[in-house]
Amino acid sequence: VVGSGVLERSGALLEKLGFDGPPLLVSSRQILDLHGQALVDGLGRRYGSVAVVRMPDGERAKNHSTLRALYDGLFEARADRRSWLVAFGGGVVGDVAGFAAATFLRGIRYVNVPTTLLAQVDSAIGGKVGINVPQGKNLVGAFHQPGAVLSDAAVLQTLPERELASGLFEVVKYAAIRSERLLRYLEAEIEGARSRRPEVLERVVWESARIKSEIVSGDEREGGERMALNFGHTVGHALEAATRYRRFTHGEAVGWGMIAALGFGRELGLLGAAEAGRLETLIRRVAPLPPLGGVALDAVWEALGRDKKFRSGSIRMVLLPRLGASRVRADVDPAHLRRYLERFLAAGRRRPAAGARRRPQAGA
Ligand SMILES: NC(=O)c1ccc[n+]([C@@H]2O[C@H](COP(=O)([O-])OP(=O)(O)OC[C@H]3O[C@@H](n4cnc5c(N)ncnc54)[C@H](O)[C@@H]3O)[C@@H](O)[C@H]2O)c1
Repeated sequence: VVGSGVLERSGALLEKLGFDGPPLLVSSRQILDLHGQALVDGLGRRYGSVAVVRMPDGERAKNHSTLRALYDGLFEARADRRSWLVAFGGGVVGDVAGFAAATFLRGIRYVNVPTTLLAQVDSAIGGKVGINVPQGKNLVGAFHQPGAVLSDAAVLQTLPERELASGLFEVVKYAAIRSERLLRYLEAEIEGARSRRPEVLERVVWESARIKSEIVSGDEREGGERMALNFGHTVGHALEAATRYRRFTHGEAVGWGMIAALGFGRELGLLGAAEAGRLETLIRRVAPLPPLGGVALDAVWEALGRDKKFRSGSIRMVLLPRLGASRVRADVDPAHLRRYLERFLAAGRRRPAAGARRRPQAGA
């Protein structure tokens, strides 16, 4: 469900979807302070008093001890197999609370109420849940589909600017791989999205959620079609890891990753200059990308090698044969890619430094 006033109507909506009995609300202090009342009231209208289980927020809290504390909270609230959770927050809250739901008493139902644009268009949909471990991000988890996803555009009004832009880069990705129509809409309305016009946000969330759920429905466990969602993410993840997750938001890294994939696709003769330029222009209109100065080729290359999506030595990359369509190339020549990345990083260093800021440490 996407709209405005969804939090206030949450109880009625969920009851209609067959959720009975009171829910357990899982969220962080920050989110509850900002938007908790609207959701607690909305749920309370149907379910009476709602028990709240708090968890810390931020990427650094996406770990075993938060999960453990969540289990304790659920036992304390006397949750049983018929209990259900409402995960209320950004991707971190959704991933950890979803993993708790996947595993508590061997699995209970849950609902996502995402509060960041990234969570509304991406992480809340598709059922991937999990935590980070010292060996890497998202390496322990499960597939556990939410029973519903309720996205309210109103909560996005309080989102920090860079977090909003981070989600918008993912929206551009959906347009690039699946929908020329969404691409045209973004070209016309990107300013409206950046200034958070509710009707624009609702439309981009709806279109993105539709595209992601269609792709995931066809390939829940990522055997094939779901790979398309990785457009921009191969190089994007490597840039994030090579800069120890400090320089770029996830979306900014994906922004650069998409630009890299466009250029590489052009070298393989996939996409014409005009189309590639059109998409790059839109990416750059979302927000300034922090420059690539100081990002070492070796660090990026090493991170690419660790990417769990790089299958045993063969490099697979999602590329665009045209705007609005994607193709997985399994025959990427590593030497060519490395040469290309060297040139790409050098060019990125020369770009204007607008927007160059250190990313605030997650969870700080
Ligand atoms: N499960 C998936 O398929 C999937 C997909 C993409 C990303 N992810 C995961 O999502 C996480 C990133 O999610 P995110 O970008 O939402 O970050 P996040 O959950 O860390 O939230 C970012 C910050 O915004 C704050 N915040 C949240 N909602 C707010 C609001 N409405 N107003 C003001 N502040 C608000 C949070 O407190 C936090 O400080 C990563 O851990 C990533 O691995 C998962």
